[in-house]
Amino acid sequence: MRDVKLTDIFNHHIAQKYITRSGLAHALAVAYHAFELAKEKKVDVDIAAKAGFLHDIGHYTWYKDGKWDYQLYKKNDIHPIKGAERAHKLLIRLGENPVKAKEIALAVLFHTDSFLPGGSVTLTALQQIVKAADEKDEEPGGHHHYRTVSLKKALDSLKVLDEKIDKHLAQE
Ligand SMILES: [Fe+2]
Repeated sequence: MRDVKLTDIFNHHIAQKYITRSGLAHALAVAYHAFELAKEKKVDVDIAAKAGFLHDIGHYTWYKDGKWDYQLYKKNDIHPIKGAERAHKLLIRLGENPVKAKEIALAVLFHTDSFLPGGSVTLTALQQIVKAADEKDEEPGGHHHYRTVSLKKALDSLKVLDEKIDKHLAQE
């Protein structure tokens, strides 16, 4: 039994505020990729899908004169750190198991090494999956952050993914 479903996360206003900021369509795609990769690698599919969905929740809007300022972002971004904290707080509020919440937060923290000075961290299987899932959906010029999807469609596709997760967990 899962304490928290993807749709529970989605329905929380904090998730809606921050996940839509960095692209809901991207978050959905990464959740799906993470689920599939976790199935393949025999990693907890529930944790992977949630980490995939939440991985970019820490983004800030680095806009200048109405345009995304990539230099400013590169220089100041800490979205994996912010995201880990935000994802953790949200999950705990929703009643997530604290062990799972910690694992998800760490996978969010390590989904990119862009913020690490040396870039040398040994990733767990789950962390590798979330990183790979994110890279699978990446488009040149950061366009993956701008693909759009309606809230209704997003909710529908999260319901489908929740069902897939429950089905997979029941089979195990
Ligand atoms: Fe991403």
